[in-house]
Amino acid sequence: MPLLELKNITRYFKSGQVRTEVLKGIDLTVEKGDFLSIMGPSGSGKSTLLNIIGCLDRPSSGSYYLVERQVEKLGDGKLAEIRNQFIGFVFQGFHLLDDLNAQENVELPLIYRGIGSKERRKSAMEALEAVGLSHRRKHRPFQLSGGEKQRVAIARALAGNPEMILADEPTGALDSKNGQNIMDIFTKLNEERGITIVQVTHEEHIAKQSHRILHLFDGEVANEGEIEESIR
Ligand SMILES: Nc1ncnc2c1ncn2[C@@H]1O[C@H](COP(=O)(O)OP(=O)(O)O)[C@@H](O)[C@H]1O
Ligand SMILES: [Mg+2]
Repeated sequence: MPLLELKNITRYFKSGQVRTEVLKGIDLTVEKGDFLSIMGPSGSGKSTLLNIIGCLDRPSSGSYYLVERQVEKLGDGKLAEIRNQFIGFVFQGFHLLDDLNAQENVELPLIYRGIGSKERRKSAMEALEAVGLSHRRKHRPFQLSGGEKQRVAIARALAGNPEMILADEPTGALDSKNGQNIMDIFTKLNEERGITIVQVTHEEHIAKQSHRILHLFDGEVANEGEIEESIR
């Protein structure tokens, strides 16, 4: 059984009489331990697809299995639970809370899970360690560089011990050195912990470090291919 399977997924948005079809029948299977990049021009539906994969949004039609559950049949509460339990999110703009320091930001999703303060602190410290930022734990976002902020965001995703990390243009706001640093962390998490990673990127050299690329064009899969290990 794959980790997730999308079958003939569509998503349209309605405003007044106008109906915009954003995803037009996407089939996608992701196995546990996969490292997939979604590429495509701006507006081709990449974020819409990632949001559906992450249970932040629902398809208009089609079926979606995630860890053997048929997602489109679940209510909002159950969906939030699955999201919380299995998925860590990383966004282009980091989405850290300005008033909290790095450690508190990392602990936040664990509070929602009802985990006690001692265990929260331990998990947060381990996660910050994994991204090389233990020494910055008391810093607030404005005291961190872009690359460091993204590493805190990855630590926050990691602290919940997710099966899968979903990242929407995680290197999009970073220079190439910091972008590469993020990719090195993803590669390590994928190889050493078997965490499944699905990332959206428009950068070829970033995508090439994953194992598979799915090209979207105008809401459809234009092509899909594997990356040979030798060129990663
Ligand atoms: N909530 C929404 N309501 C209406 N249109 C939307 C909504 N979200 C996305 N779209 C439209 O769907 C298309 C694809 O958006 P998106 O998935 O964000 O593309 P990408 O991430 O590939 O740039 C765009 O034309 C966008 O305007
Ligand atoms: Mg997008």
